[in-house]
Amino acid sequence: MKGIILAGGTGSRLYPLTLATSKQLLAVYNKPLVYYPLSALMLAGIRDILIISTPSTVPLMRALLGDGSQLGLRISYATQEEPRGIAEAFVIGADHIGPDPVALILGDNLFHGAGFAQRLQQCVASLDGCTLFGYPVSDPSRYGIGEIDENGMLVSIEEKPLRPRSNSAITGLYFYDNEVVDIARRLTPSARGELEITDVNLEYLKQGRARLIRLSRGNTWFDCGTHDSLLAASQYVQVIEKRQGVRVACLEEIALRMGFIDAETCYQLGVGMRQSDYGQYLTQIAYALD
Ligand code: DAU
Repeated sequence: MKGIILAGGTGSRLYPLTLATSKQLLAVYNKPLVYYPLSALMLAGIRDILIISTPSTVPLMRALLGDGSQLGLRISYATQEEPRGIAEAFVIGADHIGPDPVALILGDNLFHGAGFAQRLQQCVASLDGCTLFGYPVSDPSRYGIGEIDENGMLVSIEEKPLRPRSNSAITGLYFYDNEVVDIARRLTPSARGELEITDVNLEYLKQGRARLIRLSRGNTWFDCGTHDSLLAASQYVQVIEKRQGVRVACLEEIALRMGFIDAETCYQLGVGMRQSDYGQYLTQIAYALD
């Protein structure tokens, strides 16, 4: 399975923070925001990843993550000139996807929680059509909202409904079979001029092949698109890391746990950053994973 991180857009809801930099490079506590969606793809076992971003941000992403080989990944980059819609990721990424299924994650989405990695791996192994993730929210009219039948199959999806039929927000993590490329290519822009991810999902729904997995209470999801959600995400990561002494979205640790890199590589990556807690943590865990 291939992976795509969509990390474009103007970040205008975060101005003036994002006037000179990209939202996905802002800090969530002690790491750049993009580390969090990248960690989700890695935990799903995905190693071949395309990062799509604006022309001015791609060089910065490349400076941060390079070709991914230090993490045992293959990271490539593509530009989206204008925010023409989330579904455009499949058109821009068609060559990267090739004949494979694909997972798309929005570059401002943070997932964390017990059993999440296992959930993702099961989802990759059993994918048929599309699999989306639902998360209960108190303000459903800000999101895509899904309604499911007793088998977990989606029966309705609405984008930012005025009268939501459920409180299950569709998160920004999407798994699709290879048909998604053709579906995205056939889309026409919506009234707001975008290729809508909801239209892709509705096509799978029509075929009876759209599943929604509801994330339970033990899981956390943030989309860090506002000042408050960015701060809330930072506070969440700080509390978990300080209280439990573990790291959330520590890419080198995940690469080691997933068998993408060996202990010595992890250790040396830590040595390179040993002035920071983050680097010291890597040197401590490299040869002592529980
Ligand atoms: O976060 C989950 C929500 O994401 C879903 O519940 C909605 O169904 C989905 O439409 C989307 O809603 P948003 O209002 O958050 O979408 P937004 O336009 O803000 O885009 C989400 C992220 O994707 C944002 O970080 C910018 C990036 N993006 C967006 C578009 C439209 C791009 O990189 N390129 C784009 O063309």
